[in-house]
Amino acid sequence: MLIVTALLAYLLGSIPFGILIARIMGLGDLRQIGSGNIGATNVLRTGNKLAAALTLIGDAGKGAVAVLIARALVGEDAALVAGVAAFVGHCYPIYLRFKGGKGVATFIGTVLALHWPYGLLAVATWIAMAGVFRISSLAALTASALIPLIALLFGNIKLAVALGLMTAVIYHRHAANITRLRAGTEPKIGKK
Ligand code: G3P
Repeated sequence: MLIVTALLAYLLGSIPFGILIARIMGLGDLRQIGSGNIGATNVLRTGNKLAAALTLIGDAGKGAVAVLIARALVGEDAALVAGVAAFVGHCYPIYLRFKGGKGVATFIGTVLALHWPYGLLAVATWIAMAGVFRISSLAALTASALIPLIALLFGNIKLAVALGLMTAVIYHRHAANITRLRAGTEPKIGKK
């Protein structure tokens, strides 16, 4: 049952909302714009805030929906598996030959559904960091590093391991952003 759950959640997580929304709204191929990433931050670089908001909702929503359905139909372990699988789907989607996004919105949606206080903490951390530094990747890297540590601190080991794995993928997917952050050349939110 867990394998079926993981497979279905992976397929759901693989839906590239940014690419679909940008195409439907006539904004072009997201992979040719800005950072080339398929997430909401890069959609915002087109100047279309509605498209960016819809991408954020879609990418976070698919993680949350995968968790909630798996929890309702199978149980808590399946919810955890579904969350990780949806996240992996976003980062390595079958529909895009496994070249997907950086996982931040799907991570946050997944965490909100798995353990809402941690999810709210992730959102608050992202907003605070983005408010101060105006850099999406820095906000994401900070928020995603904090949450597994908090889970570990509260003895929520299984969740901490799952969140830690997702955070490791987020850091891997942000390699180019980290290089730009170190060089001081990472663009501010909304800038190209
Ligand atoms: O959520 C993705 C963000 O952290 C970085 O996106 O397009 O600036 O590489 P981008």
